[in-house]
Amino acid sequence: MPQHPAPVYQYSQLTADAQNALVGGGILSGQIATFNGELIPDLEARVAQLTGRAQALAVDSGSSALRMAMRGLEIRAGQEVIIPEIGWVSVGAAADMLGATVRVAPATESLTPTWAEIAPLIGPDTAAVVLVHLRGRPAPGTAEIAHHLTERGIPLIEDCAQAWGVDVEGRPAGGWGTLATFSTHSMKLIATGEGGLVVGDDPAMMALMRAIAGDTRQKTPRAVWRSKARMTELAAGLALPQVEHLPRLVEDLRALQREVHLQLAALPGLQLVPGSTDPAGNGSLVGVRAPDPDTAARISGALFHHGYRSWWPGPGDLHTAEAWPVQPERQITDHRTYFDIQIPWLPADAHKQWACTLTDLVQQSLESNR
Ligand SMILES: Cc1ncc(COP(=O)(O)O)c(C=O)c1O
Repeated sequence: MPQHPAPVYQYSQLTADAQNALVGGGILSGQIATFNGELIPDLEARVAQLTGRAQALAVDSGSSALRMAMRGLEIRAGQEVIIPEIGWVSVGAAADMLGATVRVAPATESLTPTWAEIAPLIGPDTAAVVLVHLRGRPAPGTAEIAHHLTERGIPLIEDCAQAWGVDVEGRPAGGWGTLATFSTHSMKLIATGEGGLVVGDDPAMMALMRAIAGDTRQKTPRAVWRSKARMTELAAGLALPQVEHLPRLVEDLRALQREVHLQLAALPGLQLVPGSTDPAGNGSLVGVRAPDPDTAARISGALFHHGYRSWWPGPGDLHTAEAWPVQPERQITDHRTYFDIQIPWLPADAHKQWACTLTDLVQQSLESNR
C-alpha cells in the first residue's frame, strides 16, 4: 500500500478563483448546458487562436474529439487508419467504430513513430494517420510526416491530449494536422474533469463535426447520423482561466523540469528522454530510460510510494498496443525500460530542494538492486 494517497498534481487549482467566478456566474444565470451560452464560444475562439487554427469545436472528451475528427474526415469501412503503438486505447477505437481497419506503427526511442515507421504501412486504402504528441513532448519528425502525408493527400490527425502548451517544430501542437484533438480530462494540463476539443481550418469539415457532435442548429449539405458529444458551459468555464494561464504554467513547470533534468542527468545508468539538456515540451514530465524493465518498474514504484507521480507503461497499460486488439508487426524498442516523473507546480524557491530529494530517491532505488 502506498504511504500517501495517489498523488495528482492539480494544476487547475492555480486558477480556482477565476474558475469559481465563471462557473458560479453560469449557475446563477442558468447557463449550464451547451446552447446560447458565451463560455463555449469563448473557449473555442481561444483554443483556435492558441493553436493557430481557423476554428475549434468543444466536445465532452478527448475520445469524442477523436471520434468527431474521424467522422469529419468521413472515414468508413474498407479504409485504413494508421495509429502509433503508444497513445491511448480510444485512438484506435475511434477508427474501428466506423468500420475502418486499424494499423499500428511501431514506436521508436522517443515513444512515437517517425516517417520511417509510418511509410511502410501506407497503402491505397489509408484514410488517415494519427500522430500523438506523448508525455507533454512534441513527436519528433512531425513536420516531415505532415509534409509526406500532404504530398499523398492523406489527412493527419494530431492527438494533442497530453500536449497542451507544447511547441512542435515552430508551431503550437495542433498546428500541423488536417485536424487536431485535445483532452481536458482531469489528468491533463487543462483539466475540467472530462472534456475535449477538435481544431481545424476547413469550414465544411468543422461544420459537419459540429452537427454530428449534437449542435441541432447546424445545417449539413445532406442528412447525416448525428450524435451528442457536447461540452457544457460549466466545463468551458473551468477551462477558460486555465487556457489564459497556460503560458505561465508552462514557464513555471519548465523551470523545475530543467532542475530535475540536470540532477538526474548526473546519475550513471539512466538516460533522459530526450537526451538534451533542454528537455522541451510543456514541462510537465521528465522521461527516463532505465537499463532494464525491472529497474524502471522498481524506480517508478518507489517514486509513487513516496508521493511522486510517476508513469511506467507496464503490462496491460491501455496506453500501449499490447492491451489493444491490434499490435504492430514489429517492435523497435522495449517501452518497459521507460518511466517518467510528473513535475508539480511549486514556488521557485522550492525547486532545488524538490529536485534534490527526488534525485536521492531515484539513486537509492537505482542502487538497491546492485
Ligand atoms: C494520447 C491520448 N489520446 C486520447 C485520450 C483520450 O482523452 P479523454 O480521456 O479525454 O477521452 C487520452 C487520455 O488519456 C490520451 O492520453
